[in-house]
Amino acid sequence: MGRHTNEGLVLARLVVVVLVSLGVVAEAGRAELLSAEEQLLLEETRPILQRSMVDRVNADKRATWKAALNSRLEKHTVKDFKRLCGTIMTPVPDLDSSSFPVLEPGRNDARGRTISPADLPESFDAREAWPHCRTISEILDQGHCGSCWAFGAVESLSDRFCIHGFENVTLSENDLLSCCGFECGYGCEGGYPFRAWQYFKRTGVVSATCDPYFDNVGCGHPGCSPVYDTPVCNKACVNDDLWAENKHFATSAYYLPSDPEALKLELYTNGPIELSFNVYEDFAHYTSGVYQHLYGDYMGGHAVKLVGWGVENGVDFWTVANSWNTEWGEKGYFRIVRGTNECGIETSAVAGIPFVQGGKRSRVAEMYRIVVSVKPLELLANLKPASGRQCLEMSMYHIFIG
Ligand SMILES: *[C@@H]1O[C@H](CO)[C@@H](O)[C@H](O)[C@H]1NC(C)=O
Repeated sequence: MGRHTNEGLVLARLVVVVLVSLGVVAEAGRAELLSAEEQLLLEETRPILQRSMVDRVNADKRATWKAALNSRLEKHTVKDFKRLCGTIMTPVPDLDSSSFPVLEPGRNDARGRTISPADLPESFDAREAWPHCRTISEILDQGHCGSCWAFGAVESLSDRFCIHGFENVTLSENDLLSCCGFECGYGCEGGYPFRAWQYFKRTGVVSATCDPYFDNVGCGHPGCSPVYDTPVCNKACVNDDLWAENKHFATSAYYLPSDPEALKLELYTNGPIELSFNVYEDFAHYTSGVYQHLYGDYMGGHAVKLVGWGVENGVDFWTVANSWNTEWGEKGYFRIVRGTNECGIETSAVAGIPFVQGGKRSRVAEMYRIVVSVKPLELLANLKPASGRQCLEMSMYHIFIG
C-alpha cells in the first residue's frame, strides 16, 4: 500500500515536471506550480453558464426540459453560483423519525375538511387554490447572498399566514438571516432550513416592512451586488412599528416524511413547504419543462418553496418557486420530476403552522406561549421528541447554502 503510494507520488511528480517543462502551467499564467487549491480556484472563476451545456442538454433525447443561457446568472462564475447553492457538509441520510420531529402531513385542510390521499387531485397549484394570498405567487431574488434557506422558510410561512389566518403579510428574510445567528448557520454563507422554522417558533419573525432585505442598503429586491455580507442584526423596525410587537410566530416546526404522497397532502392542506435539493451545473441552465439532472458537477444544496404538482406528457412533476428572480426558469419557477426523489428533493422537506388566533395572530409573545401549550394538541400528539444532541447531529446533515 505504502509502496504504491510512493510510486504514485513519484509518478505524479514526474508528470508535473513534464507538464511544467512543456509550459502547460506557465500558459495558465503562473510562474510556479499550481496546487490543487489553486487549480480549483482557476476552475471556479470560469462562468457557470456554458453554451456547450445548453447544446448538450437540448440535444439529449432523455431531457424533458430545455436549457438556455439566462440573464440572471449571466455574470456568475462557478464560485458565485456555488455561493447561491452552497455545500452539503455530509450526505443526507435517510430520515429516521426517531431522532427528530417528523410530523405526519396535514389531514384537515384550512377549511376544516378532512382530506385523505384518495381525495387529492391529479394536479394542484397553491396560487390557484388560494388566490386571495398575494405572497404565494411572488418570486423574490436572494441576490448574491447564500440565503436560500431563509427565503424558502420565510416565503412558505408568509403564505401560510394568509392561508390559515387570512392575513396578507410579507415576512422578513432579513430578520432570520441577521438575527438567528449561529443557531441557523452562517447567514449569507448558508444555513439550516429546519432551524429557520425553529426560530419562527421560538423567536418569531417580523414583517419585511419592518425589516427589509439587507435593510434596503444596496441589496433590495431584485438583486444585491456587490454588497453581500450577512446583514447586521438591529432588532429595530425601519418604520414606526415596534420590533417585538411585529413578530409573527409558528406553533410548530417539523420535517415531513420522505414520501411524495405526504408532501402532496401537506401542501394541499396547510400550504407551501420548504424543500431542499442537490444542485448540479445543468440546473443553472434550466429554462422550461420538467427538470431531471443530466450533466455537470455537484454545486451544493439549495432550498426552495413547493407550490404545486402535475403531469406533463406522462411525466409527474413538482412546481417549485425559486428565489433567482423572474428571468430565471419559467418566470422564476421550475418544475422537477416527482415521485423518484430527483436530486433528493423529496427528503428533508420542512414546514410549520403559523400562530393565528381567530384569524388574527397574537401580538404578544407571552400570550403565544400560553396558548400554544393547549392549542395544537393534534400536532403535539404526532411530534416525536428529539434531544438537543440529536438535533445538532441532524443539522450537520442539513447545511444548505442557498
Ligand atoms: C391580499 O391582498 C390582495 C391585494 O393585493 C387582496 O385582493 C386580498 O383580498 C388580500 N387578502 C387578504 C386575506 O386580505
